[in-house]
Amino acid sequence: MQSADDALICVFIGALLEGQNVIMPPTMQSPKTLKAPRQVAGAAEPVVTAPAVEPVEFPHLHPLPGIELVLADALQWMAQRDENSVHAIVTDPPYALVEYEDKDHDKMRQGQGGLWRIPPSFDGSQRSPLPRFTVLTPKEREKLNTFFKAFAYQTQRILVPGGHLVIAANPLLSTTVFYACETSGMEKRGELIRIVKTLRGGDRPKGAETEFSDVSVMPRSSWEPWGLFRKPISEKTVAQNLRKWGTGGFRRISDDEPFRDIFEAAPARSPERDLAPHPSLKPQKLMRYIVRGVLPLSRGVVYDPFCGSGSTLAAAANLGLSAIGTERDVQYLTMAHQAIPRLSQIKIST
Ligand SMILES: C[S@@+](CC[C@H](N)C(=O)[O-])C[C@H]1O[C@@H](n2cnc3c(N)ncnc32)[C@H](O)[C@@H]1O
Repeated sequence: MQSADDALICVFIGALLEGQNVIMPPTMQSPKTLKAPRQVAGAAEPVVTAPAVEPVEFPHLHPLPGIELVLADALQWMAQRDENSVHAIVTDPPYALVEYEDKDHDKMRQGQGGLWRIPPSFDGSQRSPLPRFTVLTPKEREKLNTFFKAFAYQTQRILVPGGHLVIAANPLLSTTVFYACETSGMEKRGELIRIVKTLRGGDRPKGAETEFSDVSVMPRSSWEPWGLFRKPISEKTVAQNLRKWGTGGFRRISDDEPFRDIFEAAPARSPERDLAPHPSLKPQKLMRYIVRGVLPLSRGVVYDPFCGSGSTLAAAANLGLSAIGTERDVQYLTMAHQAIPRLSQIKIST
């Protein structure tokens, strides 16, 4: 539903991106009941998707051909997307939700902490803020569960049969996020483990560092789980599903090497971080590996619901693939619009 806030955001983004190719919604009217249900183009049988209200037209941008950035709440955008209309979903969601809600996010932007903590600087460089997932209350965890269930429901609806969802988590919250995905009708197909050395955990007990100098309260985190889920195939075999929808498996690394579920990728640093200074920026090395793998025939559309500064979309552009991203924060959307063309050109060491 188009609210007064949405209208304001449209004006804001228009001003921010003045002179650039912003496509604005033609109308700001209230939703109306549709006269006739819509049908999915190309479906053998007329599949009725019948949204109850006229769809909202979200402001969108095209930083590159085949790449679309939409200013929208992901759940709202997905709810009005046709069934079976994206081939893969690759995303790094707000795992705990609260870290990207106004209260804590504003504090982080003002450098005041809250849920975000600034890790101590060392080797001369200032570290980016990290959200502290250990401080979540039971109520916040419950909200998280409800949100990811709604998200996973929409995911399995809009993916084509055999399409994969590849979703980032962290070891503290992955159980909640993955359980919601599994119970929405998606099949769990494993986890991709990213080897990454971070500054999370590993500290001695606060206030008693000398007394307990041999103790780490939690392990220092050195890996990141990405859940691999698949919408069940509609055909009898994966081969038939690949022929019909182009999905069902992963693209091999090479003739001799299958797609693997372990991958080493250090945190994004300069020059990527200079182009896209988002607190949760994922490195191009990792995103290109995942995005390449998730479209087994290199055909179709990749969607990132929580696209932040656009690292998934930049990876898709680098690989010559089509992608759509939704982001509800206008500053990050603007960052993504500017960063994608340059991130997509970055050379990475393999
Ligand atoms: C973990 S960050 C993703 C960052 C991304 N991996 C990158 O490389 O830039 C999650 C993003 O989701 C956005 N977000 C949070 N809730 C959202 C929602 N309901 N719909 C759309 N975007 C949302 C936040 O503003 C944030 O930019």
